[in-house]
Amino acid sequence: MKPGHPCDLPSAVTPAPCTIVIFGASGDLTSRKLIPALFSLHLQGKLPEPVTIVGCARSPLSDNQFREQLFARLPPGTKGLEKWPDFAASLHYQPVTYDRQSFLKLAAYLGELDHAQGTGGNRIFDLAVPPGLYPVIAELLGESGLSRETGLAEGWARIIVEKPFGRDLPTAIALNAVLHEHFREEQIFRIDHYLAKETVQNTLIFRFANSIFEPLWNRHHIEYVGIIAAEELGLGSRAGYYEDAGVLRDMFQNHLMQLLVLTAMEPPARFDSQSVQDEKTKVMRSLRDFGAKDGSRLHLGQYGPGHINGLPVPGYRDEPGVRQGSTTPTFALMELFIDNWRWQDVPFYLVSGKRLPRKQTRIIIQFREVPHRLFRDVLGDTIGANRLTIETFPEEAIRLSFQTKNPGTSICLRAMDMDFVYHEHYQSATLDAYARVLLDCMAGDHMLFWRQDGIEQSWAFLTPVLELCEECRFREQHLQFYPAGTWGPEQTRPIVSRMAAE
Ligand SMILES: NC(=O)c1ccc[n+]([C@@H]2O[C@H](COP(=O)([O-])OP(=O)(O)OC[C@H]3O[C@@H](n4cnc5c(N)ncnc54)[C@H](OP(=O)(O)O)[C@@H]3O)[C@@H](O)[C@H]2O)c1
Repeated sequence: MKPGHPCDLPSAVTPAPCTIVIFGASGDLTSRKLIPALFSLHLQGKLPEPVTIVGCARSPLSDNQFREQLFARLPPGTKGLEKWPDFAASLHYQPVTYDRQSFLKLAAYLGELDHAQGTGGNRIFDLAVPPGLYPVIAELLGESGLSRETGLAEGWARIIVEKPFGRDLPTAIALNAVLHEHFREEQIFRIDHYLAKETVQNTLIFRFANSIFEPLWNRHHIEYVGIIAAEELGLGSRAGYYEDAGVLRDMFQNHLMQLLVLTAMEPPARFDSQSVQDEKTKVMRSLRDFGAKDGSRLHLGQYGPGHINGLPVPGYRDEPGVRQGSTTPTFALMELFIDNWRWQDVPFYLVSGKRLPRKQTRIIIQFREVPHRLFRDVLGDTIGANRLTIETFPEEAIRLSFQTKNPGTSICLRAMDMDFVYHEHYQSATLDAYARVLLDCMAGDHMLFWRQDGIEQSWAFLTPVLELCEECRFREQHLQFYPAGTWGPEQTRPIVSRMAAE
């Protein structure tokens, strides 16, 4: 696609030269996601020219040590390694100690780099640090003048905030308040990389650029909506974070909520960030309250020992760093309702869990059964209802199931799928989700990021749920155990297996 093509998004046009400053540059997110994403943009010729990437952390590293460390940590199978030296030339390192003095030093250093490289004072600050440091860094950027913009076309300052954005409503409001002391809303980019997946973006196109689906997209035709993000992996080395967060904070407040609003929102007036965000926020305002003690719509689970791909794996409580007798949920199924004309009384089942049989992320639109069972006499009651599946993993695909007649003299029905699989139809290189959000931030496009009101609405809905399920008694009564490698606790397994079925 040539720049300037009518269907180019802002990020399709190479953004202006800039400096990308990554705090926490010695950590996991930087080496596993951010740098590989930036390197892939380099390989595709999508990075601005010039671009400077400055890693900041407390570890004492030279530019060369930083480059070598990142190269050594590139994910296995990274392509284009022969071009790494070109890319590495744009990588620099500046140690920081998260106090005023070191940020004044950083400001002077960035000024010198701007001058030497010609990056025009455009800067992105990416907070790849533990969340407790987000407000500290925002304050320090403000106090050292680094959040200030010149007001000219060049000289912008943007801040990228990783998840988790707060741990409940009060902390999210407090974080927004600190950010807003030093940055305008247009300067703030709250990441949810799920939104950058092609199929997720395609959900809006699918719904609003095809006239045949939207008339069916409501309570009259849809039995339920299922949204599942299943992980095969267990805790890994993330006990410090996960013991406190659990599955609701880790997956529901952000990723599943975004998939829910994209599925349920009304058509926006225009396809621009503001209009789309307005419609998303409306959905979150329409979520039915969970009710003070309504445990029946929430199922929590924790994996025990089991088998994944035939190999034995330990239970959650035996993972390194997990508290003895921990009641942190690693699985949840939540039944939600959206109180508006389109969705009244249609259940939305949100499911996520660790150590389920396979990694799978999909939205299921389960249509109602046919009203009149014309074939009942010959077939009994077994006519399956249509189902639309929007899948982001293992394949980026959209599938519509429908009934057909088996060839032959008898009336036997068979459910078949109409499939659209992204990689079978589009050969051009697709952008990894992190590469896409970084590029959008460089281009100043907020479409794939959370806006302040959206994130606060999401927490406003979820905070009472979290309070409920953090009560010891609630957890003791409701936490169900499931063997690793099964579709969650026994009670909810039938519905989860149906949602996950091929
Ligand atoms: N990793 C992921 O896949 C992922 C995915 C989504 C979101 N996130 C979010 O992204 C952020 C970074 O994640 P991460 O996994 O990269 O974290 P990490 O590896 O634990 O930490 C990143 C870096 O932060 C610095 N740091 C750690 N504790 C610190 C402290 N108390 N004070 C000052 N600096 C400290 C360390 O560098 P120095 O010791 O050298 O200063 C460390 O290398 C987190 O907020 C996480 O929730 C991560």
